[in-house]
Amino acid sequence: MRLVRFSEATHVGRHAAESIAKTIGERPRAVLGLPTGATPEIFYAELGKLHDSGLDFSRLTIFMLDEYVGMEKDNPLTFASYMDRHFYSKVNVSRQQRHSLNALTTNPQAECKRYERELTEAGGFDLLVLGIGSNGHIAFNEPGPFLTLETHVEKLSEETIKANDRGTVEKDNSSLSVPAAKTFPTHAMTIGIEAIFSARTVLLLATGATKAEVIAKMVDGHITTQLPASLLQIHHDCLVLVDEAAAAGVRSGP
Ligand code: GLP
Repeated sequence: MRLVRFSEATHVGRHAAESIAKTIGERPRAVLGLPTGATPEIFYAELGKLHDSGLDFSRLTIFMLDEYVGMEKDNPLTFASYMDRHFYSKVNVSRQQRHSLNALTTNPQAECKRYERELTEAGGFDLLVLGIGSNGHIAFNEPGPFLTLETHVEKLSEETIKANDRGTVEKDNSSLSVPAAKTFPTHAMTIGIEAIFSARTVLLLATGATKAEVIAKMVDGHITTQLPASLLQIHHDCLVLVDEAAAAGVRSGP
């Protein structure tokens, strides 16, 4: 794991977008895993700009990392609608290139199995971009006594529900009305640890002071399933892209 610090959050997003451009240049048919969350919004905006200046996304295969179980299709908090808003509406990625988990499946376990098969058939990720939850989750692999290899249903921790169940997720986008969250999902479907670890390259993005504590633990702390992102210390090619605020607690490294 290597930590790369940037003076500002915008530079984190820009650098990650440039890594995608480099991957497309080397491997136009690359398989990408792409995250949701507030952190990667700049990254997607930068990818949109790169597309406007000619970057071609038409041969990639793209997998989302996770999705809420049972969230209504028209809820702007579904990760599928997030991807439409922030990414697919800005680049040339056809429906055939996109892979996602169906939030409204009646059989989440079977849906996870289907997704795992699709991932395996695609040959795994060439480049996987991750965010990080403030409790150290990656995708929706939550802290606990064990982790799961394959795509699976995960019970969300209270901390995660609190962090994600917020009308403020996209507070700067005034056109978006986020419904009151009485029925926020308690479970999500997520890719497992094997898909994350077999990715050729992993980029983990973290910005802002709220991520400082977890980034310090991830980089300097013990490797433990109680902080799933700490396992990335032993990934053979993992870059952690952080701004100064998120890197504030890190002792080791450059
Ligand atoms: C969700 C997603 C994660 C993401 C995390 C952090 O929980 N499942 O993949 O990394 O949010 O999001 P944010 O960038 O909004 O802090």
